[in-house]
Amino acid sequence: MNKIFYITTPIYYVNDIPHIGHAYTTILADVISRHQKQIGNDSFFLTGVDEHGQKVQEAAKKREVNPLHHCDEMAKRFTSLWQELHISNDDFIRTTEQRHQKVVKKILNIVNDAGDIYADEYEGLYSISEERFITEKESESGQFRDIKKLKEKNYFFKMSKYQDQLIDHINKNPKFIQPEHRKNEILGFLKQPLNDLCISRPKSRLDWGIELPFDSNYVTYVWFDALINYITAPGYGEDPQEFQKFWPASMHLIGKDILTTHAVYWPTMLMAAGIKLPETIFAHGWWLMKDEKMSKSSGNVINPLDLIEDYGVDPVRYYLMREMVLGHDASFSKESFITRYNSDLANDFGNLLSRVSTLINKNYEGIIPNVSDFSSLEIEIQHSSREVVKNFDSHMSNMAINEAIEAALQFVRSINKYFEQSVPWKVVKDDKIFAGTILYTGAEALRIAAVLLSSIMPERTKNLFLVLNTTSTGRDWGGLKPGTQLGPLTVLFPRINTENN
Ligand code: MSP
Repeated sequence: MNKIFYITTPIYYVNDIPHIGHAYTTILADVISRHQKQIGNDSFFLTGVDEHGQKVQEAAKKREVNPLHHCDEMAKRFTSLWQELHISNDDFIRTTEQRHQKVVKKILNIVNDAGDIYADEYEGLYSISEERFITEKESESGQFRDIKKLKEKNYFFKMSKYQDQLIDHINKNPKFIQPEHRKNEILGFLKQPLNDLCISRPKSRLDWGIELPFDSNYVTYVWFDALINYITAPGYGEDPQEFQKFWPASMHLIGKDILTTHAVYWPTMLMAAGIKLPETIFAHGWWLMKDEKMSKSSGNVINPLDLIEDYGVDPVRYYLMREMVLGHDASFSKESFITRYNSDLANDFGNLLSRVSTLINKNYEGIIPNVSDFSSLEIEIQHSSREVVKNFDSHMSNMAINEAIEAALQFVRSINKYFEQSVPWKVVKDDKIFAGTILYTGAEALRIAAVLLSSIMPERTKNLFLVLNTTSTGRDWGGLKPGTQLGPLTVLFPRINTENN
């Protein structure tokens, strides 16, 4: 049986319109999933929306619509943004769907039957904005709003019971929590005794949720509900053999702010339900603007759609992937976007295409020339094309996407340099046959660079393949066929004039 590379994004709250934070994780997952397909693996990419809970109930109330109607509208905003961003997800899950409600109830029953859920009267400080009970210390930290004292009966999951088992799993599986500093953060957190998790909300306070199968006066806590989406989509509870093709998930991609829920709540829930743990939970950093967190409350959210309107989807995808070192925060600015665009995309990548295609058009009637004898330079380029593929893959598998991109760009720069050294525009005057070899070499190297970058810029690279008039997306040397007539020329990445920006 072939195990499928199964990658997920968090499912996004529908109390907010999609912003760059949502777009970033989803593009990242898309790039990884497309790359997996490129290297010959089956990949299943899941994203979706988190539709229950107090925040959504309140957002709907504010708009004076019923919660499901609100969710329907918001889910559409996400799906249409994903379409616009060239996201190739294989499934889109909504937590209000029947298939999901069924699995949540099933898991609650399993965990309850195993004796890991108990009811208790609990009195404590409750943060309405966070939708959970908080400790005295947390309430003093000033980070929580809308705190009130609450006393009520609730259901608790015996999370504490799995503390040692979780620590053991983390220690034995170095890839389980990535990057390393996030793993250490969780191990540090687990040095304190773990509390049990309150997993219910009385309907008197919140009714927008999945009803507990063993007490109809309660709904399920939104995180207990949401995390389960990762097993709903690949069909938990249906054909076990089918499910096993997907599960355990290869990678849960998340932002650093939701690490505890994913690296503590989720694995302990799975342990209680007797389900294997995901292979990797990878937490990325945040996009900051002028070193401030981008958040709606501070009013500095960049709407990805605005960026796209001005500069196109693929350049924005490229920028987001190239500029963030995975695991760390990154700063967004329009200036750095323009600098990156002009240097990498307009000057290096786009320029190589325009050189190759213009010279072939002018001197070979637009027909990709034949290859004659190679000089050592051409042999070197063929060799480095194999190297760049290897390096690209190895950076991708280490989640160093920025370095993978840089490797591809260095290769592109080396081809531009090769043109400057071997001056095909001069050689063509005396030796049309050898100039043809130089141009073929440049065009083929460009094709391979474009194949590598196609998971990051799926549409622009498609346009490039149209210019080269090739359907060859293999990464081995020799995909371009001499004798092929080039397609219509286009400027792939027009330079952004910095004076007007
Ligand atoms: N619904 C939960 C997740 C449940 S998963 C079972 C949730 N949703 S969310 O809509 O708040 O989405 C949060 C995701 O967006 C997180 O991964 C978060 O890190 C990410 N981002 C939000 N703003 C961000 C930036 N400025 N930069 C990068 N990502 C950030 O949490």
